[in-house]
Amino acid sequence: MEESKLRELLNSLSIEEKIGQLIQLSGEFFSAKDISVGPQKKLGITKDAVELCGSVLNVVGAKETHRIQDAYLKGKKHPIPLIFMSDIVYGFRTIYPIPLGLGATWNPDLIQKAYRNTAEEAYASGNQVTFAPMVDLARDARWGRSLESTGEDPYLNSRFAASMVKGLQEDLPKYGLVSCVKHFAAYGAVESGREYNATDMSENRLRQYYLPSYKAAVDAGAKMVMSSFNTLNGVPVTGNKWLLKDILRKEWNFDGVIISDYAAIAELVAHGFAKDNQEASKLALEATVDIDMKSPCYANELKPLVTEGKLDESKIDNAVWRVLKLKNDLGLFEDPYRGSSEELEKKLIMTPEKRELAKKVSTEAMVLLKNENNMLPLDKNKKVALIGPYENEHELLGLWAVHGDRKATVTIEDGFKKYLNSDNLFTSKGTDILRNKSIFRSMGLNSEQIDHVVSSKEIEEKNNEDAIETARKADIIVFAAGEHTIESGEAGSRGNLTLPDNQLELLDKLSKLNKPIILICISGRPLILTDVEPKVSAIIEAWFPGTEGGNALADIIFGKSNPSGRLSMSFPYAVGQLPIYYSQFSTGRSVKTSTHSSRFMSKYIDIPNDPLYSFGYGLSYSKVKYSNLRLSSKELEMTDNLIASIDVTNMSDRNTTEVVQMYIQDKFASVVQPVKSLKGFERVTLNPNETKTVNFEINKKMLSFYGLDNKLTVEPGEFNIFIGPNSDVEDFATFNLK
Ligand code: BGC
Repeated sequence: MEESKLRELLNSLSIEEKIGQLIQLSGEFFSAKDISVGPQKKLGITKDAVELCGSVLNVVGAKETHRIQDAYLKGKKHPIPLIFMSDIVYGFRTIYPIPLGLGATWNPDLIQKAYRNTAEEAYASGNQVTFAPMVDLARDARWGRSLESTGEDPYLNSRFAASMVKGLQEDLPKYGLVSCVKHFAAYGAVESGREYNATDMSENRLRQYYLPSYKAAVDAGAKMVMSSFNTLNGVPVTGNKWLLKDILRKEWNFDGVIISDYAAIAELVAHGFAKDNQEASKLALEATVDIDMKSPCYANELKPLVTEGKLDESKIDNAVWRVLKLKNDLGLFEDPYRGSSEELEKKLIMTPEKRELAKKVSTEAMVLLKNENNMLPLDKNKKVALIGPYENEHELLGLWAVHGDRKATVTIEDGFKKYLNSDNLFTSKGTDILRNKSIFRSMGLNSEQIDHVVSSKEIEEKNNEDAIETARKADIIVFAAGEHTIESGEAGSRGNLTLPDNQLELLDKLSKLNKPIILICISGRPLILTDVEPKVSAIIEAWFPGTEGGNALADIIFGKSNPSGRLSMSFPYAVGQLPIYYSQFSTGRSVKTSTHSSRFMSKYIDIPNDPLYSFGYGLSYSKVKYSNLRLSSKELEMTDNLIASIDVTNMSDRNTTEVVQMYIQDKFASVVQPVKSLKGFERVTLNPNETKTVNFEINKKMLSFYGLDNKLTVEPGEFNIFIGPNSDVEDFATFNLK
C-alpha cells in the first residue's frame, strides 16, 4: 500500500482500533472460534480489546495462522491483518546448537546461513517476526540465559548479532523474517546472575561493553527491538526514556517498532516505578514502547489516559504508525498470509540440506577442552561403553527451542552406531539426568509427572549397577553427562554450577574401574568442571547441540571432523569468581605485575584468579605453531593503518581449522582499559604441515574507547598487540600511536 493510503488508514481508525494495534496476545486467546473467555478474564481485558488486538505471540504453523487470520479479518471494519511473532531463537524446526555454541564457532558467516534457513522455515509456517537474536553480553554463568547469548565479548557478540540479523532479514520483504533484537539493554549484567534482577553500571561501561552488540544489530537493519525486564541504574528499561528514546531512537536513528518483554509494562508497578497500570502505560508509551506484550496495560489504560487529558493522542498515533508501517512493509495488506502454506512447509522445513547445515554448525560449535595423551579421536576397533543419562536422549535442543522437533533429533547413540557395530558398542543410561525433585516442582510438574522423570531409588541403584557392568566390558568409557534442559534458559539461574550430584556419583564409580573416560558435556552454560577434570582423559563441551547433535559428536569422536570450536565464554574455576571474563583491568595490584608481598594483591586466598578454561580456548587434533609476530611499522599516524602479521603452521598430518585471535591492549589511557580486548579473528584452514601468514589491519577505530565524556575517543600512546590461539596468549608486539 502506498504510504499516503496508509496514513489515510491510520487517520480513519477509532481510538480503540489504534490501541488494538499496540496489543500483543498469545495463542490461547485465539484457539476457540469465538474469543476465549478464560485467558481474557485472567488477563483482565475486555472481549473488544481481544478482538482488536494486532499481533499474536508464539503461534506457528501455516494451517493455524491462516485459520486465526481468516477469523480475525472477517467482518472487520478496517481489516488490518494480524502479525505473527514468535521465539525462533536458534532454529525453527531444524534446531542448531544453543547460541553459546554458535558463539563457539567463531564463524559469523556460517551462522548467517543458519539464520537464513531458520527464517525460511518459519516464514513458510506463517510467522513474520522472530524475537531474535538475543545479544546480551553474558559474563556470569549463574545466569541461565547465558544459553541464549554468544558470550562475554562485545566484539565477538557484535559480529554474531549482525550476521544473525542479516540472515533472518536477507530475503525481506517477500520472504524471511523480521528480526526483533533483544533484550535491550544490559540484561546480561543482572546482579548475582539472578534472573529478572537489577542491573547497575556506569554509563561508560554500558557504552563500551554492553551496548555495542545491540548497536551492531540495529546497524545491520533489525526492524524491531525488545526492551528488557531489568532496571538499569534504578530505572526499569521498559519505562526508560534515556535508553529507549535518547540512545536507541535519537542517537542510533532507530525508527522501527519497540515491543516490551512479556508483561513488563505491568511489572513497572511491581518494580516500584509506577503506582498503577495507568501510570505504567503512560511511562512505557512515552518511552516509545510501541507494543505491550501480554499485559492488560495498554488495552485498559491508554484510552482513559487520552480522554482524561493525561496523554497526547499523537503519541499513540506515532506508535500505531510504526506498527502499520511494519505490516505494510511486509506486504500483509496485499497478502495477509505472506505466501505461507502447508505445501511450502513440506518443501522448506527440515530438508536434508537444512539438516546438513545444522550438522556442520553443530560440529563447529563443539569445543575440545581436554585430550590427554591424544585419547581422541577414538579407534573404531576399540570397545566403547557409552554411559550416562544423555546416552540416547532426544532432548538435545535446549530450553529455547520451543518449536523444535524433538523426535527428529539424532541422539548420541544414533551417531555412535554409524561408527561402531554391536560388538563394539555397549550402552547404559546409568542414572537420570536430574534427581532434584524441587527443581522439577518449580517448573510446575506434579508428583505423578516427577515420578516419570525421576526413577525410584531401587531403579536408580539398578541403573547404576548396570552402568558399571556395561563399562567393564569396554576398553573406553564415554560418559554422556550434563545439565537438565530445565536448569538453563529463561528463569534457569543457578547457584551451583556442577553436574548434577547423581551424575557425579556415577562418574566416581566409573572412575574406579581405571579405564579411560571421555566426558561429553551437554549444558546451557559454562559448568564448573574443576573436580571432574582430573577424573577424565578427555572432555568435549557439546552444549545443547541441536537436531544433528548426535551425528556431529560422533564425527568428532571418531575423527571424521577435527574440532575447531573455541569458547566464547570463560569456564570458571569456582562460582566465587563470577562474573569472570578475560578482558579484566590489571588493577593496582595485579598478580602478574605487582611487587607487593603475595597476600596483598588482587586475588582470592583460596582459589586462583584464572578460569579453568579461558575465553577463546579450545583444542583440535592438530598441533599448530604460532611464530614470527611482526608489525608493518612501530609507529602509527592517526590517519593511517598498520598491519600485524603472524605465521601459523599445522604441525600435524591432518587438516585443521585454527581460529587465530588478535587482541589489543591500550597501555595507558584516561579511562583504564582492559588487559586485552579482542579486535579481530580469522578462521584459517591448514593442510598437513602447511604454514600460512595471517594479517590483521589495525585501524584507529579499533583503538578507540569511551572517554570520560562517554564519547568515543582515541588517545596517542603505546599499544600492545597479541596474536594467538586464545585469550591467554602472551606474545605481543608494541607500537606507538602518534
Ligand atoms: C522472554 C523473551 C521472550 C518473550 C516471549 C519472555 O519471557 O524474556 O525472551 O521473547 O518471553 O516469549
